[in-house]
Amino acid sequence: MKRIALLGATGSIGRQALEIIEAHPGLELCAAASGSQPVDGLAPLTQAGGDLTDLLERAEPDLVLNAVVGFAGLPATLWALERGVDLALANKESLVAAGELALSAHQRGGGRLIPVDSEHSGAFQCLEGRSADQVHSLVLTASGGPFRGRVRDELDDVTPAAALAHPTWNMGPKITVDSATLANKGLELIEAHFLFDLPYDQIEVVVHPTSVVHALVRFRDGATLAHLGYPDMRVPISYALTYPERSATPIPALDLAGGMTLEFEPPDLETFPLLAHARTAGEQGGTYPCAFNAANEVAVAAFLEGRLPFLGIADVVADALAAADGSAARDLDELIAADEAARRHVEEALKVA
Ligand SMILES: NC(=O)c1ccc[n+]([C@@H]2O[C@H](COP(=O)([O-])OP(=O)(O)OC[C@H]3O[C@@H](n4cnc5c(N)ncnc54)[C@H](OP(=O)(O)O)[C@@H]3O)[C@@H](O)[C@H]2O)c1
Repeated sequence: MKRIALLGATGSIGRQALEIIEAHPGLELCAAASGSQPVDGLAPLTQAGGDLTDLLERAEPDLVLNAVVGFAGLPATLWALERGVDLALANKESLVAAGELALSAHQRGGGRLIPVDSEHSGAFQCLEGRSADQVHSLVLTASGGPFRGRVRDELDDVTPAAALAHPTWNMGPKITVDSATLANKGLELIEAHFLFDLPYDQIEVVVHPTSVVHALVRFRDGATLAHLGYPDMRVPISYALTYPERSATPIPALDLAGGMTLEFEPPDLETFPLLAHARTAGEQGGTYPCAFNAANEVAVAAFLEGRLPFLGIADVVADALAAADGSAARDLDELIAADEAARRHVEEALKVA
């Protein structure tokens, strides 16, 4: 029996994970946590808010599924990696913000780090543990979000409700807005860099509107492997929870004979500059990715609260990156300081605007 601690149990990923765990006789939920919504009765040990590492200490799980949204997921990520407890990681923000610290902890701990993000789960499966030197390049696909095909002038008065209407995925509000701005693909680019030890110039992003192809890996021998499936997060969640097994899920097999066209196009970086800002932040390294993430979190929250227009999200993130000092964080305290500095910068900018 694999004992699972589920963090972010009340969210989109969390609820789908509960479904997978309930249906699988080899998985047992030993702990469940949320930020504030009640989780009583979901698991023998539960916690709403506070320091989730206390819960993890008590629960002694075999695997942590971190489905908390945002930088708040970082302590749990580091807890699992440091102790060698297997980590199924949906909380991409923790790896983006703390890539180097997380990888050092992973090396010391020696547990498994299994991505839950569909693109990274796909890439992980195509790579099957092969080293980076065999890889020509990795391709991450992006749906393009609800505003694909629009130009900047058409995004001036976009409402939160319009940004939350994602064409292919049904997700929590923060990641849905990130998909609309392409910040999500920027976060995923940085996440892929750390997960697969690939330089940024070997990671490409292409827009693929139907989200059937999740990732492709081009190898140095000229072969390309791709991961396909209907866009349903229960597939990568199940894969991460039952790895290295592949358990049955309710998701149907891909129907090709029914007619399926796979279309790809380059991302429009002029209209959606956050993807380019993320790439630059990743290439600059140090705490630039942390600043990118922090500024984006505050900007997205402000947009959802009606305090910032849609196009303002990219503007304030660019501004925060320009103001960031970006020097590498030697420890968690320095990383938290970089995160807080970027958050303060955006809050100040919002007050002035
Ligand atoms: N949804 C997807 O399809 C998808 C796909 C790929 C990756 N991801 C990633 O998975 C993560 C979760 O996404 P989501 O869409 O499931 O988000 P969501 O629906 O907004 O759920 C977020 C979860 O995090 C919890 N939470 C928030 N702040 C917390 C805190 N300070 N401490 C503990 N828990 C906290 C929430 O609890 P409350 O309900 O109490 O606020 C909720 O359970 C994100 O990093 C996202 O990028 C999601």
